[in-house]
Amino acid sequence: MVDDDGPGISSEDRARVLKRGARADEKAPGHGLGLAMVRDTIELYGGTMAIETSPLGGARVVLQLPGR
Ligand SMILES: Nc1ncnc2c1ncn2[C@@H]1O[C@H](COP(=O)(O)OP(=O)(O)OP(=O)(O)O)[C@@H](O)[C@H]1O
Ligand SMILES: [Mg+2]
Repeated sequence: MVDDDGPGISSEDRARVLKRGARADEKAPGHGLGLAMVRDTIELYGGTMAIETSPLGGARVVLQLPGR
């Protein structure tokens, strides 16, 4: 689980920002690849990834990987 205290990711944006090239804030620098790469990697290993709200006020990304 990774938490931050940034602006968070709204529930409307959560599915969209996981797609390659999708960005929620066009003013901030970035390529829109980071979250899509994490999701692709997690799915290759049969895991799941979810974006939630952090108690710190920002985004919480929950990654689950299967055990061996
Ligand atoms: N921790 C976060 N808090 C708030 N918004 C975020 C966060 N991480 C990503 N986002 C939003 O989701 C969008 C997609 O994120 P993603 O990491 O895929 O690409 P990026 O950060 O724009 O570029 P990069 O490819 O350099 O990571 C971002 O443009 C931003 O709007
Ligand atoms: Mg990023």
